[in-house]
Amino acid sequence: MTSGGDAPGMNAAIRSVVRTCAYHNIECYGIYRGYEGMIEGDFKAMDARSVKGIINKGGTVLKSARSQAFRTPEGRQQAYNQLTAANIDGLVTIGGDGTFTGAMIFNQEFDFPIMGIPGTIDNDIYGTSHTLGYDTALNTVVEAIDKIRDTASSHNRLFFIEVMGRDVGHIALNVGVGAGAEEILIPEEDLGLDRLLESLRRSKQSGKSSSIVVVAEGDKIGKNVFELKDYVEENMTEYEVRVSVLGHMQRGGSPSCFDRVLASRMGVKAVESILEGKTNFMVGLLNDKIALTPLDKAVKGKSEINMELLRVSDIMTT
Ligand code: F6P
Repeated sequence: MTSGGDAPGMNAAIRSVVRTCAYHNIECYGIYRGYEGMIEGDFKAMDARSVKGIINKGGTVLKSARSQAFRTPEGRQQAYNQLTAANIDGLVTIGGDGTFTGAMIFNQEFDFPIMGIPGTIDNDIYGTSHTLGYDTALNTVVEAIDKIRDTASSHNRLFFIEVMGRDVGHIALNVGVGAGAEEILIPEEDLGLDRLLESLRRSKQSGKSSSIVVVAEGDKIGKNVFELKDYVEENMTEYEVRVSVLGHMQRGGSPSCFDRVLASRMGVKAVESILEGKTNFMVGLLNDKIALTPLDKAVKGKSEINMELLRVSDIMTT
């Protein structure tokens, strides 16, 4: 099952789960539309051949949804009834923290074996250095910023570019360094408006004619990208400012090789862990090894960003 926001690599994970089941002679069913489909019994038997040609596809062939009904005890009871009626005795769920929170409650209530695979471009899950889709999204965003840079430098403009990251700045920080942004605004650090202006002034004085500021959607400076544009234009008339909100294009596209390999590894581990009788864990990547983290830790733990990268970015913009 895939649930929550889609992410590139989800299909590669579905393929891996299905093929690992086939390898171990286990019957496998795909659940459509996340918990919604679980409640409705929207299941489809899947064999090794039914997942051909999807490793390179973005999105999720099982579709995804955010379910209100699953938040209710009645909804979860209905989901449990559907699973038992179909003789299903283990669940691999691919998604983010909302998906895992639902899975944990379900496991507590019905003692149903569950393994989680982290799939979200935000990379905001504890217990893994990389969630599925994160690496692809970084490459997609860097490519987009490189293109915007062409306009920025041709017109001597300052661009505020908003990238995804509701609660964390992983995407902003990494693409900021990777695309050579002058400033990076992330939720983990409130730069403050004064320091932003100071930094932009310094950048102008050092001879730069154009600038890129990457802003995570959840950043804490207190102004959205459009308000930031107005603020900078009011205080620095020397700048012509534009805004670009990259939006959902960041979530689409063919997964990178890294995400495909990671998804394949995670799917194998998820199925084989259930076979070993393990439950209530998330499969993650830690120090390049596939490792299990209890689901409650994955949900409650904080995924730390690499603050060293902020310093690297400061030095790079000298
Ligand atoms: O996938 C995570 C995420 O991209 C967040 O960064 C963003 O806030 C959210 O999804 C938006 O998703 P949706 O439009 O599906 O609600």
